[in-house]
Amino acid sequence: MASLPQSGFSSLAGKRLLLGVSAGIAAYKSALIVRLLKQAGCEVRVVMTDGAQAFITPLTLQALSGEPVRTSLLDPEAEAGMGHIELARWADAIVIAPATADLIARLVHGMADDLLTTLCLASEAPRLIAPAMNQAMWRHTATQRNVAQLAADGWQLIGPAAGDQACGDVGPGRMSEPEEIIEAIRRHFAPPPIAPQDAPHVVITAGPTREALDPVRYLSNHSSGKMGYALATEAARQGARVTLISGPVSLPTPAGVERIEVETALQMHAAALRLAPEATVFIGCAAVADYRAENAAEHKLKKSDDRDTLTLTLVKNPDIIADVAALPIEQRPFVVGFAAETQDVERYAQDKLARKGLDMIVANDVSQQGLGFGSDDNAALLLWRTPLGNEQLSAPPQPKTQLAALIFQQTLAQLSLISSGA
Ligand code: PMT
Repeated sequence: MASLPQSGFSSLAGKRLLLGVSAGIAAYKSALIVRLLKQAGCEVRVVMTDGAQAFITPLTLQALSGEPVRTSLLDPEAEAGMGHIELARWADAIVIAPATADLIARLVHGMADDLLTTLCLASEAPRLIAPAMNQAMWRHTATQRNVAQLAADGWQLIGPAAGDQACGDVGPGRMSEPEEIIEAIRRHFAPPPIAPQDAPHVVITAGPTREALDPVRYLSNHSSGKMGYALATEAARQGARVTLISGPVSLPTPAGVERIEVETALQMHAAALRLAPEATVFIGCAAVADYRAENAAEHKLKKSDDRDTLTLTLVKNPDIIADVAALPIEQRPFVVGFAAETQDVERYAQDKLARKGLDMIVANDVSQQGLGFGSDDNAALLLWRTPLGNEQLSAPPQPKTQLAALIFQQTLAQLSLISSGA
């Protein structure tokens, strides 16, 4: 197996983020920021200024982050738990969104007159800030001077955006959208791009297979390829060399991805076993037919007037992913399988993880309306092995593109643990 390069991938999984919320109308969007960060696998602790609590309640952010929200510097009970210096040291990064003109001014002057500003002084972690204010306040010389000073002090600015404002004005000063803020945080943690020759090779199977019964009929399933193609797109976006072994689907090849078209399980098996020994990661997302006709008819099967039934003899197809997982250790990539289940999702997925010898499995309940086969959205339970037993992460319904990012991040997180010998 090629080893994982130490740079090139951006993962928020496991990152500890301190989110500061100050008193702007955009504070309501901090709820979505917390939710997106949690979905990306971050630990999130929220600190609110006094004014922020007039716009959104600590309880909302506590429910979303799963952690008590801190609002006061002089809170004996909170300090008895994780003191403010400990909290400042805990954070991998501080993100303030929204940041008002007043907060920015206080930060520039190194003030420590509330918990949030005190934490910013006490922390050596990277700091990102998303200003939000009225357009005239944003344009004001004092604000512009302060923002320039913040940038000079090492703060990374996110936005602001321009457009309609809650006060009725139009212009710059709107807080960037939560998705843009998450993307900026992700970019912040992204290591330098990797050189193409060092890029890990990710091989992904996607779509259905077709098993001919005769020249015009086949056995197949409803896989559209969307989940596998989303994974290929995400892996390529993150700098991997990606080969997609695709069954028949009507999707365009993602940018930068090499596509090998196959039709049958046997063809997919041959392509997978040819590529896997050189791959870093193998992801089996295809819905492979478990059986094929023992003998596909050479000519179209004719309907017979004196026969009401037709018996087909099917033979088992090879298990592609199990064969990849059984490669000798020096040729074996990190292997991620999928499990399409309609009941007892976790139990069957645990069984497939063990039986097929996989490193990780993504289990989806394909009986749920609007998820799984053919849809744009999916939900999944990710299970992976650790020396101390299996661990899991539940991903709620979301676009397949987003779920693909989470699956790929978790894959890389596990792979880098293995590469580092942890
Ligand atoms: O393509 P979409 O419309 O976006 O739908 C996505 C999906 C539902 C197809 C996808 O999310 C999914 O669940 N893919 C796996 C489907 C499947 O065949 O699951 P399974 O539980 O039968 O197989 C378990 C694993 O073994 C899978 O990784 C599968 O690729 C692999 N397998 C199965 C049979 C076989 N002969 N060879 C294999 O490698």
